[in-house]
Amino acid sequence: MARMRRHRHHLKALRDTALAHTREPHPDLAVLARELGRVVHRDGQALVDDMVRLHGSSRDFRRLLLSRRGQLTPVSVLLVVWPPDHVTPSHDHGGLWGLEMSLHGALEMESWTRSSEHSDWQLRGRDWLGPGDAMWFDAGTSTMHRCRNMSRHEVALSLHVYGGDLIDCNAYAPEAQGSHWHAMPQHLRIDGALPV
Ligand SMILES: [Fe+2]
Repeated sequence: MARMRRHRHHLKALRDTALAHTREPHPDLAVLARELGRVVHRDGQALVDDMVRLHGSSRDFRRLLLSRRGQLTPVSVLLVVWPPDHVTPSHDHGGLWGLEMSLHGALEMESWTRSSEHSDWQLRGRDWLGPGDAMWFDAGTSTMHRCRNMSRHEVALSLHVYGGDLIDCNAYAPEAQGSHWHAMPQHLRIDGALPV
Protein backbone atom coordinates (compact mmCIF):
# COMPACT_ATOMS: atom_id res chain seq x y z
CA MET A 1 0.00 0.00 0.00
CA ALA A 2 2.80 2.38 0.96
CA ARG A 3 4.56 1.45 -2.26
CA MET A 4 1.48 2.28 -4.31
CA ARG A 5 1.07 5.61 -2.52
CA ARG A 6 4.69 6.53 -3.19
CA HIS A 7 4.35 5.46 -6.82
CA ARG A 8 1.32 7.73 -7.15
CA HIS A 9 3.10 10.55 -5.37
CA HIS A 10 5.99 10.66 -7.87
CA LEU A 11 3.76 10.32 -10.91
CA LYS A 12 1.45 12.96 -9.49
CA ALA A 13 4.36 15.39 -9.06
CA LEU A 14 5.23 14.99 -12.76
CA ARG A 15 1.64 15.30 -13.91
CA ASP A 16 0.85 18.29 -11.68
CA THR A 17 3.99 20.10 -12.84
CA ALA A 18 3.05 19.45 -16.47
CA LEU A 19 -0.49 20.75 -15.96
CA ALA A 20 0.57 23.77 -13.87
CA HIS A 21 2.76 25.11 -16.69
CA THR A 22 0.45 24.46 -19.64
CA ARG A 23 -2.63 26.49 -18.78
CA GLU A 24 -1.94 29.01 -21.57
CA PRO A 25 -2.84 28.15 -25.19
CA HIS A 26 0.86 28.73 -26.07
CA PRO A 27 2.78 27.66 -22.99
CA ASP A 28 6.46 28.50 -22.53
CA LEU A 29 7.93 25.07 -23.24
CA ALA A 30 11.41 26.06 -22.06
CA VAL A 31 9.96 26.81 -18.62
CA LEU A 32 7.99 23.55 -18.71
CA ALA A 33 11.21 21.65 -19.53
CA ARG A 34 13.08 23.36 -16.68
CA GLU A 35 10.35 22.62 -14.12
CA LEU A 36 9.85 18.99 -15.20
CA GLY A 37 13.64 18.54 -15.21
CA ARG A 38 13.69 19.74 -11.61
CA VAL A 39 11.16 17.04 -10.63
CA VAL A 40 13.10 14.34 -12.50
CA HIS A 41 16.39 15.31 -10.83
CA ARG A 42 14.70 15.35 -7.41
CA ASP A 43 12.45 12.25 -7.69
CA GLY A 44 13.82 10.47 -10.74
CA GLN A 45 15.35 7.37 -9.21
CA ALA A 46 12.40 6.73 -6.88
CA LEU A 47 10.01 7.20 -9.80
CA VAL A 48 11.99 4.82 -11.96
CA ASP A 49 12.27 2.19 -9.21
CA ASP A 50 8.50 2.17 -8.88
CA MET A 51 7.92 2.13 -12.62
CA VAL A 52 10.36 -0.75 -13.00
CA ARG A 53 8.42 -2.67 -10.33
CA LEU A 54 5.26 -2.13 -12.33
CA HIS A 55 6.60 -2.52 -15.86
CA GLY A 56 10.09 -4.01 -15.51
CA SER A 57 9.11 -7.31 -17.05
CA SER A 58 7.42 -5.64 -20.01
CA ARG A 59 9.45 -5.64 -23.19
CA ASP A 60 6.76 -3.93 -25.25
CA PHE A 61 6.61 -0.36 -26.48
CA ARG A 62 3.82 1.14 -24.38
CA ARG A 63 2.10 4.55 -24.22
CA LEU A 64 0.46 5.04 -20.81
CA LEU A 65 -1.80 7.97 -19.97
CA LEU A 66 -1.00 10.10 -16.96
CA SER A 67 -3.62 12.71 -17.83
CA ARG A 68 -6.13 12.84 -20.62
CA ARG A 69 -7.10 16.06 -22.31
CA GLY A 70 -10.24 17.50 -20.70
CA GLN A 71 -12.19 20.73 -20.61
CA LEU A 72 -10.05 22.10 -17.79
CA THR A 73 -6.79 20.53 -18.97
CA PRO A 74 -6.29 21.02 -22.70
CA VAL A 75 -3.12 18.89 -22.69
CA SER A 76 -2.39 15.17 -22.52
CA VAL A 77 0.46 13.69 -20.47
CA LEU A 78 1.87 10.25 -21.27
CA LEU A 79 4.57 7.96 -20.01
CA VAL A 80 6.27 5.89 -22.72
CA VAL A 81 8.08 2.59 -22.09
CA TRP A 82 10.85 1.91 -24.64
CA PRO A 83 12.17 -1.64 -25.19
CA PRO A 84 15.95 -1.89 -25.74
CA ASP A 85 17.02 -0.43 -29.11
CA HIS A 86 13.41 0.41 -30.03
CA VAL A 87 13.14 3.04 -32.75
CA THR A 88 10.02 4.90 -33.90
CA PRO A 89 9.33 5.81 -37.51
CA SER A 90 9.97 9.44 -38.45
CA HIS A 91 6.73 11.09 -37.34
CA ASP A 92 4.96 14.39 -36.85
CA HIS A 93 2.62 15.16 -33.95
CA GLY A 94 -0.66 15.90 -35.69
CA GLY A 95 -0.05 19.66 -35.57
CA LEU A 96 0.09 19.74 -31.74
CA TRP A 97 2.82 21.43 -29.70
CA GLY A 98 4.74 18.97 -27.57
CA LEU A 99 7.58 18.24 -25.19
CA GLU A 100 9.34 14.89 -24.79
CA MET A 101 11.70 14.21 -21.85
CA SER A 102 13.79 11.20 -20.88
CA LEU A 103 13.06 9.93 -17.36
CA HIS A 104 15.37 6.92 -17.43
CA GLY A 105 17.95 5.82 -19.98
CA ALA A 106 19.09 7.75 -23.04
CA LEU A 107 17.07 8.57 -26.15
CA GLU A 108 18.44 9.67 -29.51
CA MET A 109 16.24 12.15 -31.38
CA GLU A 110 16.86 12.82 -35.05
CA SER A 111 14.87 15.86 -36.21
CA TRP A 112 13.78 17.36 -39.53
CA THR A 113 12.12 20.67 -40.37
CA ARG A 114 10.33 22.04 -43.42
CA SER A 115 9.23 25.56 -44.37
CA SER A 116 5.69 24.56 -45.44
CA GLU A 117 3.48 21.50 -45.70
CA HIS A 118 4.48 21.08 -49.35
CA SER A 119 8.24 21.53 -48.87
CA ASP A 120 10.74 18.71 -48.48
CA TRP A 121 12.09 17.80 -45.06
CA GLN A 122 15.55 19.05 -44.15
CA LEU A 123 17.61 17.23 -41.52
CA ARG A 124 18.03 19.53 -38.53
CA GLY A 125 20.28 17.32 -36.44
CA ARG A 126 20.53 14.79 -33.63
CA ASP A 127 20.05 15.25 -29.93
CA TRP A 128 20.79 12.86 -27.11
CA LEU A 129 18.52 13.06 -24.10
CA GLY A 130 19.53 11.72 -20.69
CA PRO A 131 17.21 11.81 -17.65
CA GLY A 132 15.75 15.29 -17.23
CA ASP A 133 16.70 16.39 -20.79
CA ALA A 134 13.87 17.43 -23.10
CA MET A 135 13.20 18.52 -26.64
CA TRP A 136 10.08 20.44 -27.63
CA PHE A 137 8.32 21.80 -30.69
CA ASP A 138 5.62 24.36 -31.47
CA ALA A 139 2.18 23.60 -32.91
CA GLY A 140 2.14 23.21 -36.69
CA THR A 141 3.40 20.81 -39.32
CA SER A 142 6.96 22.03 -39.73
CA THR A 143 8.80 19.45 -37.59
CA MET A 144 9.14 15.70 -37.35
CA HIS A 145 11.53 13.37 -35.55
CA ARG A 146 12.59 9.79 -35.06
CA CYS A 147 13.41 8.55 -31.54
CA ARG A 148 15.45 5.57 -30.39
CA ASN A 149 16.28 3.96 -27.06
CA MET A 150 20.07 4.01 -27.24
CA SER A 151 20.48 1.01 -24.91
CA ARG A 152 20.63 -2.45 -26.48
CA HIS A 153 19.88 -4.04 -23.07
CA GLU A 154 17.75 -1.77 -20.91
CA VAL A 155 14.25 -0.35 -21.02
CA ALA A 156 14.00 3.46 -21.19
CA LEU A 157 11.20 5.67 -19.90
CA SER A 158 10.10 9.07 -21.14
CA LEU A 159 7.47 11.67 -20.36
CA HIS A 160 5.44 13.28 -23.16
CA VAL A 161 3.27 16.40 -22.89
CA TYR A 162 1.13 17.45 -25.90
CA GLY A 163 -1.32 20.26 -26.54
CA GLY A 164 -4.17 17.77 -27.10
CA ASP A 165 -4.72 14.04 -27.58
CA LEU A 166 -2.03 12.70 -29.88
CA ILE A 167 -3.97 9.95 -31.65
CA ASP A 168 -3.74 10.74 -35.37
CA CYS A 169 -0.45 11.77 -36.92
CA ASN A 170 1.76 10.87 -39.89
CA ALA A 171 4.81 8.66 -40.22
CA TYR A 172 7.20 9.46 -43.09
CA ALA A 173 9.45 7.30 -45.22
CA PRO A 174 12.00 8.71 -47.67
CA GLU A 175 11.70 7.86 -51.35
CA ALA A 176 14.55 5.84 -52.75
CA GLN A 177 15.79 8.84 -54.70
CA GLY A 178 15.63 12.52 -53.93
CA SER A 179 14.63 14.22 -50.73
CA HIS A 180 10.89 13.63 -50.92
CA TRP A 181 9.18 11.68 -48.14
CA HIS A 182 5.90 9.73 -48.25
CA ALA A 183 3.39 10.52 -45.51
CA MET A 184 1.57 7.54 -44.00
CA PRO A 185 -1.37 8.26 -41.66
CA GLN A 186 -0.98 6.64 -38.24
CA HIS A 187 -3.53 5.95 -35.53
CA LEU A 188 -1.66 5.73 -32.23
CA ARG A 189 -2.71 3.36 -29.49
CA ILE A 190 -3.00 4.10 -25.78
CA ASP A 191 -1.99 1.00 -23.83
CA GLY A 192 -3.44 1.94 -20.46
CA ALA A 193 -3.70 4.59 -17.79
CA LEU A 194 -1.49 4.96 -14.73
CA PRO A 195 -3.21 5.53 -11.38
CA VAL A 196 -2.42 9.07 -10.19
FE1 LIG B 1 7.50 12.22 -30.99
